[in-house]
Amino acid sequence: MGSVGMRVLVACEFSGAVREAFRLRGHDAWSCDLLPTEQPGQHIQDSVLWYLAEDWDLMIAHPPCTHLAVSGARWFKDKQSEQAEALDFVRALLDAPIPKIALENPISIISSKIRKPDQIIQPWQFGHGETKATCLWLKELPKLEPTNVVEGREAKVHRMPPGPDRWRERSRTYQGIAQAMAEQWG
Ligand SMILES: C[S@@+](CC[C@H](N)C(=O)[O-])C[C@H]1O[C@@H](n2cnc3c(N)ncnc32)[C@H](O)[C@@H]1O
Repeated sequence: MGSVGMRVLVACEFSGAVREAFRLRGHDAWSCDLLPTEQPGQHIQDSVLWYLAEDWDLMIAHPPCTHLAVSGARWFKDKQSEQAEALDFVRALLDAPIPKIALENPISIISSKIRKPDQIIQPWQFGHGETKATCLWLKELPKLEPTNVVEGREAKVHRMPPGPDRWRERSRTYQGIAQAMAEQWG
């Protein structure tokens, strides 16, 4: 489906999950993050803001949710400037001059401060027996269709032990979702 050989920017991805799913389907996909990539591949280690005006066909963006997620709402009053900055970053991504854009975040204040998401997906719709509501803001892309609805709907992330790497484990994109993006949007 679709044309082969799209130029794909995966913004704010250290895992390489979405990048590799697109590359396996023949696309020229690059990840970009301030952090190095966990999987060797085409990666730009820098702020993605410097690369938005390049010649991309599609961008999939996973901006930090730390100051935006509603699950952190009890801390909101202490961090208004961080929040404003995080929202500006999201706006810059959504307004990028790229024909097709998908931006992903948990239930967050993006909904009230920018706009409502186009879709809310769950890992259990894509082969992972877990719940984690994930919102998608879409530009010129169809909604993602579930690929493999499974039983077992635990909120696994809440059982992860606290520690310096917990955010990493929690934030890595699910394989089934990365694959569905590449199959349906590639
Ligand atoms: C919630 S994590 C997303 C992880 C992603 N789902 C993955 O599988 O790798 C947000 C990421 O945004 C990155 N980030 C923050 N500011 C950035 C910027 N200006 N340019 C590129 N990446 C940025 C952080 O380093 C962090 O890795």
